[in-house]
Amino acid sequence: MAAVDWQGDVDAAGASWVARAGVAADSDALRAVEVDALGKNGAITLLLRQVGQLPGGDRRAFGQAVAQAKAEVEQAIAARRAAIAADLLAAELADPTFDETIPPEVALQGAPRRMGHLHPLCRVQEEVEAVFSSMGFAVLDYPEVESEFNNFEALNIPAWHPARETQDTFWLRSGHVLRTHTSNGQVRALHTFKPPFRAVFAGKVFRYEATDASHDHTFHQLEGLLVDRVVSIGHLLDSMRTLLAAVFGREVPVRLRPGYFPFVEPGFELDIACQLCGGAGCPACKQSGWLELLPCGLVHPQVLRAGGLDPAEWQGWAFGLGLSRLAMMRYAISDVRLLLGGDLRFVQQFGA
Ligand code: DAH
Repeated sequence: MAAVDWQGDVDAAGASWVARAGVAADSDALRAVEVDALGKNGAITLLLRQVGQLPGGDRRAFGQAVAQAKAEVEQAIAARRAAIAADLLAAELADPTFDETIPPEVALQGAPRRMGHLHPLCRVQEEVEAVFSSMGFAVLDYPEVESEFNNFEALNIPAWHPARETQDTFWLRSGHVLRTHTSNGQVRALHTFKPPFRAVFAGKVFRYEATDASHDHTFHQLEGLLVDRVVSIGHLLDSMRTLLAAVFGREVPVRLRPGYFPFVEPGFELDIACQLCGGAGCPACKQSGWLELLPCGLVHPQVLRAGGLDPAEWQGWAFGLGLSRLAMMRYAISDVRLLLGGDLRFVQQFGA
């Protein structure tokens, strides 16, 4: 009886799978080799299954040979797997854009994307600007670093004026100030636009101030200025009512009280019915039922003159809305310092 040359066949099969594992280009190709050789119906697996069919004498030696081939193929696959991983790592490290400080889960899937959203101050500002825009107001933006003239003098607040004391600010070595109010834009607007015109301008203002729950050294205002040949307090008041109805989503009762500001004559404080108690009286409104919201008035002739206009020919009204205050009321924020405190836990409550 001729001897079956299974030894040569098994060796050749083993060597061929070892060779194929050795040239697998990447981990997918290697996995395919593994399945084809050692999988449920893989070539080596089928050889193993034949062991039982061989005549008794050959069985043991054949079994050993196949087991040996299997072990070699397994080893070759493991070696190739390690080599592929090492090549990948080397390529990553050689990539100048590779950043080893990025955690692998982020590197593989990309940083989780979080939707941003507007800060509550921006939201209120955009809303108010939209209301005024719909009434024909231009939306402007003026510098935070301002000349003493635009911030004070032009607004009828000369150096000796006591009103300067209430608006102490940060002075720069150049003699400029960090603006104490958005009223700095009034004279700039008067010099820029040919009357009649109407505009609002919002932004950060600064005060040299001991801070507490209702005072911060940096806060936001929105200024409005309207110039025409004839203006009226009735028109001013109605514009403010329109604004408040839009912001609060309903009619809000208002009242005017006399108020002094050097750059308006007459000047007013506009109060709104307390939105917490509805006017009945509560701690927020000091039991009065009213909250001071925005000062306003008819533009002082001196300011018109500083802006190059003849007060006999032109009139104006103006207001300075505390945007920070409005945002606090709108969102029931108890401490003004939260607004610019930079604490994401606070800001993220206003998403969506
Ligand atoms: N600029 C004033 C302040 O910050 C607020 C103000 C009052 C603005 C009256 C105005 C105004 O336009 O008419 O205290």
